[in-house]
Amino acid sequence: MTETADCDAPQMEAGTTGKVRVWDPAVRVFHWGLVAAFAIAWLTADEVQPVHEVAGYTVAGLVAFRLVWGFVGSRYARFAQFLKGPGDTLAYLGDMARGKERRYLGHNPAGAAMIVALLVTLSGTAFTGWLMEEPGRVAMLPDLPQIVAPAWADDDGDEQGYGERGEVGGPLKEAHEVLANLMLLLVALHVGGVVLASFRHHENLARAMVTGDKRAPGPGDIA
Ligand code: HEM
Ligand code: HEM
Repeated sequence: MTETADCDAPQMEAGTTGKVRVWDPAVRVFHWGLVAAFAIAWLTADEVQPVHEVAGYTVAGLVAFRLVWGFVGSRYARFAQFLKGPGDTLAYLGDMARGKERRYLGHNPAGAAMIVALLVTLSGTAFTGWLMEEPGRVAMLPDLPQIVAPAWADDDGDEQGYGERGEVGGPLKEAHEVLANLMLLLVALHVGGVVLASFRHHENLARAMVTGDKRAPGPGDIA
């Protein structure tokens, strides 16, 4: 068994040499499902609103699943395995700049920080989208501090940002779009990091996210 929550050491794949199972099926389905749902949400924004919303809720559902899986999933899916503090992350980035970073079997500290940024930004994008759907949803939020509240009100002090269904505007829509655009930047950096690490460590990390397997750890690697 290589994919149970209790499995704490990398296992060699039965029948093959030099490969270990790293990403469990749930992580892989989550990853490529997320890529597809995000792409659909992006491409249908302001074009096919019902599809946009279903894709956006799918993103939110996948992120919620991943948060749970980060506590109960297999070894390399767990947050405790890969999340590092700012010190370790900066040290890793310094090593990267010097071309001396070590190979991690799971997520490296910079990749882990990016995962947090991606999950937080995706949550914010889906949440602001959901808020925009119905005017009443903003009213359910706790009171905004006075320093923020005026930006949400028009001259009469009324909440703005809603017109006919589908004609939303105002700060909520702006926040939704800024977060969606920020996602594009993060995804570009994420894919850039994956390509860079693939070259540095001579392995196709994108394929590993499909098959689940990576080269067995060698001397100096962190497993
Ligand atoms: C919308 C675009 C994308 C999003 C939102 C995204 C998000 C993520 C997330 C959240 C993870 C963490 C996986 C986990 O532990 O559950 C991850 C890892 C990963 N992603 Fe993506 N991803 C995107 C596009 C891509 C693309 C296009 C590729 C392939 C080139 C890719 C390759 C990878 C790889 C290889 C990892 C594992 C990194 C490692 O080895 O530490 N991702 N991605
Ligand atoms: C997390 C994935 C999501 C992404 C990447 C995303 C992206 C975008 C983008 C880029 C726009 C701007 C379109 C434009 O005016 O040019 C937009 C608009 C909008 N989105 Fe999303 N969105 C997501 C989720 C959601 C969700 C979950 C909902 C609601 C259930 C939603 C509701 C809306 C609405 C109402 C608009 C305004 C459409 C209009 O201009 O009338 N979005 N979204």
